[in-house]
Amino acid sequence: MGAVLATGGWMLQHAWQMRTDPLTFLVGCAAELGDVVEFPIPRQRVLFVNDPDAALRVLQGNHRAYGKRTIQYDALSLVTGEGLLTSDGAVWRRSRRLVQPAFHPRTLDAVGGHVAAAGERLLADWRARPAGTVVDVDDAMMRVALEVVGAALFSTDLGPQSRRLVHAVLEALDVVVARARSPLPLPLAVPTPGHRRLRAAVATLDATVADLVARRRAAGAGADADLLGLLLAARDGSDALSDRQVRDEVVTLVVAGHETVASALTWTWWLVSGAPEVAARLAEESDRVLAGRAPTAADYPALRYARAVFDEALRLYPPAWVITRRALEADELAGAEVPAGALVILSTYALHRHPAVWTNPERFDPERFTDGAAVRRAYLPFGAGPRLCVGRDFALLEGTLLLAQVSGAYRLERLPGQRVRPEALVTIRPRGGLPLRLVHRHP
Ligand code: HEM
Repeated sequence: MGAVLATGGWMLQHAWQMRTDPLTFLVGCAAELGDVVEFPIPRQRVLFVNDPDAALRVLQGNHRAYGKRTIQYDALSLVTGEGLLTSDGAVWRRSRRLVQPAFHPRTLDAVGGHVAAAGERLLADWRARPAGTVVDVDDAMMRVALEVVGAALFSTDLGPQSRRLVHAVLEALDVVVARARSPLPLPLAVPTPGHRRLRAAVATLDATVADLVARRRAAGAGADADLLGLLLAARDGSDALSDRQVRDEVVTLVVAGHETVASALTWTWWLVSGAPEVAARLAEESDRVLAGRAPTAADYPALRYARAVFDEALRLYPPAWVITRRALEADELAGAEVPAGALVILSTYALHRHPAVWTNPERFDPERFTDGAAVRRAYLPFGAGPRLCVGRDFALLEGTLLLAQVSGAYRLERLPGQRVRPEALVTIRPRGGLPLRLVHRHP
């Protein structure tokens, strides 16, 4: 079967939804039109592919036929330069060889410590509030994830500098998302207010990273103290990263490792707050494994239920909700012809609800994952193939430990009649934040 063409009339009918609620749009599009849909876009072929095997073929089986020169990644590269997430071909292969070793098990041990520290700060902040306080959990998770990735990258330098760096990244991403959504983005040289903000944010990024790198080189600090140290010391034969490349990788790790984890945790709390039996099992596991102390990376294997809850939250609200590729050569996906140059859109959000794979897909059910993190068909929260998320283990460890740590102390309750609207930006975020009520488990 070939691709089903979404007609101009159909597109017009769905134009508003596509803009305001792309998640529901994509799920509906696959349900209505099928697993391979062609959007009628002038001057380029655009295919939305929701067939699980075809998605794996794009990312893994025939990955050589697909590259990253898409609007999504070109927009991001305005901030991340030629970092791992956005680069392609030989540039990417070399960076991956140099960066991947930084994510070895010792780094993950350190991540455990950073999570515990950030989690303790969060709990201390919550303890200082009166019983029944409503907190913005989205804001809290953004803060925790920022502290963790900041500490993993810069350890001791975590201060005003890294805070400035991260704020500049968020500011720049804001403009980039708006730009990627615009049907006719103006050239960057046109000094719109957005472009001026972007330029200022990127200048701050460049200056801050340059300063951090210069100070670190001058101090000659231990190569394996943190990710920045590991990037500066990375060698493949005589090959090393230049200062510019270190800048691009540092910014990439902040972009890729902050909001993604925060978004996943925020949605986990939303789902758990609606499922008292899941909350109770999480608390029971936390009591049994941690008994009130802060977690370490060594606790990770024992926190199996927390991990299953996080896996299931990543299914329902995958932060990287859309993954795009450009076909470098002709291919065939689920029987549909893909010409060279076509844009291929995959959506983890839609794949994770594929009715042929998941029973009752909208239901939050961690039991789907309690038999271990088996490789699932149509489950790709971290992508697949050679471009699989380099921070996957980092993120799973962080999410699992924090979930267990907080569940030991608090239950988070929904407000009466509360609803949330997911907003699909760089990641999926609850529009207007996520207010939940704190209930202390051991008052
Ligand atoms: C729940 C959290 C996370 C999710 C859902 C996530 C998801 C993803 C996905 C789907 C990709 C592949 C994109 C593609 O194929 O086009 C990716 C790549 C990447 N991620 Fe993550 N990620 C998360 C956390 C992290 C963390 C914590 C870091 C680093 C500290 C990180 C760093 C990266 C990098 C550098 C890449 C590019 C890898 C490459 O192409 O070689 N991510 N991530």
